[in-house]
Amino acid sequence: MAEKSFKYVIVGGGVAAGYAAREFAKQGVKPGELAIISKEAVAPYERPALSKAYLFPEGISLILSTEIVKADLASKTVISAAGETFKYQILIIATGSTVIRLSDFGVQGADAKNIFYLREIDEADELVKAIKAKKNGKAVIVGGGYIGLELSAALRINNFDVSMVFPEPWCTANMYVFIVPRLFTAGIAAFYEGYYANKGIKIIKGTVAVGFGTEMGKDGTVLEADIVVVGVGGKPLTTLFKDRLTRKRVGLRQMVITKPAYTKKSPNRFDAFFKTSVPDVYAVGDVATFPMKLYGETRRVEHVDHARKSAEQAVKAIFASEQGKSISEYDYLPYFYSRSFDLSWQFYGDNVGESVLFGDSRPESPTHKFGSYWIKDGKVVGAFLESGTPEENKAIAKVARVQPPVSSLDQLAAEGLTFASKI
Ligand code: FDA
Ligand code: NAD
Repeated sequence: MAEKSFKYVIVGGGVAAGYAAREFAKQGVKPGELAIISKEAVAPYERPALSKAYLFPEGISLILSTEIVKADLASKTVISAAGETFKYQILIIATGSTVIRLSDFGVQGADAKNIFYLREIDEADELVKAIKAKKNGKAVIVGGGYIGLELSAALRINNFDVSMVFPEPWCTANMYVFIVPRLFTAGIAAFYEGYYANKGIKIIKGTVAVGFGTEMGKDGTVLEADIVVVGVGGKPLTTLFKDRLTRKRVGLRQMVITKPAYTKKSPNRFDAFFKTSVPDVYAVGDVATFPMKLYGETRRVEHVDHARKSAEQAVKAIFASEQGKSISEYDYLPYFYSRSFDLSWQFYGDNVGESVLFGDSRPESPTHKFGSYWIKDGKVVGAFLESGTPEENKAIAKVARVQPPVSSLDQLAAEGLTFASKI
């Protein structure tokens, strides 16, 4: 089979690949130099909205419906399932995450019809079809994370009778999987659970799905469902590189081939340009483990803001090194957000240490607006805000970046947003 050769190859066609392509175009990539190889049938799109493609600059080879099944980093080639060989000078790994399936936990009947996962656009299309076909039906949402919270709202808006089932004592949202605690405190979660309950969503906590078709729930509860949506987490797609992965600090999760972890003792090992330990191979987006300069730690982030920024940083670094120049290190301020119903929250920074809740967090309040600060070593290191204006969101971002000192948590809780607006 014919071999194709490109100066730059991106494996993966998601958010990071799209933003990398945009940065390549800005940096003046020449026609024919760059290829994106994606197993999806469509060009990279914004996954959060699951909306359609970027307008691709001319001259970028989009090689779609092509899954890379082998990467030979020594000979600088990647090989597709159909046996095509692609040679590269520089490789960017942007394979993102895949969903964790209930069958991975051995749940019975987990592959039955009308059980949906949501990662790629064809899965979204299938779900939309089922929503139309099962009008006003019953939906069970398994998982109390992002997908759980966003999809139960979406199905409720579509007039489904919705139940959410999850194992934790309260709904939550992920940060850096397995590394620091999940984002929602009990106080934050109480608002969303109350709000969802007022919208008619039934929340069944502290239980897991054990089977489909016969029963559901460890406590023997059986729930009827026309549609089941499962959001029980994601895992980085690093299988192509499994021989080269190090398994450090991330529990079940794997680190992608990357430079040794940054530590305060060995800052010269710091790689803030998304280079892996293999020459000419970069990793960006969900798969990349990278040094978080602000906290002096190595982390991995499964969120879109980092997917975009890491891709841009890697491409800038590639062009700079070709021109013998250097660029600033990646200095990422964690930023996560979500929207459901008429709610919208943003979070910046780190959720470590003690937390205080401020504002009006009564679910039934028509003027709800509330937030939380996290305080570590006498400094505010993280801030969450529901229903903030753009200026207020900017203010909490600044707090998380500046990390101002606080002497009294009670005073901080009483000041609430006023504290952020003074920074
Ligand atoms: P991404 O998963 O986007 O792309 C990976 C690409 O690689 C895919 O096209 C895949 O098919 C391809 N691929 C994988 N293996 C391959 C192989 N071997 N060969 C060829 N191609 C291969 N975040 C956030 O901050 N706010 C939000 O509101 C949301 N909302 C949201 C909604 C939904 C439904 C999902 C699934 C996710 C989000 N996210 C989010 C998370 C965010 O979308 C995610 O962090 C980024 O998409 C990660 O970008 P990547 O490019 O790393 O992976
Ligand atoms: P998540 O990690 O946010 O949530 C997983 C949830 O699964 C946990 O909260 C837990 O409640 C639940 N769970 C685990 N095992 C279970 C079991 N056996 N039975 C029932 N529940 C179980 O993951 P997700 O919501 O599936 O999201 C997948 C990926 O997509 C993540 O990378 C996430 O960051 C990303 N995403 C992000 C956003 C956003 O940032 N707004 C939105 C959608 C998806």
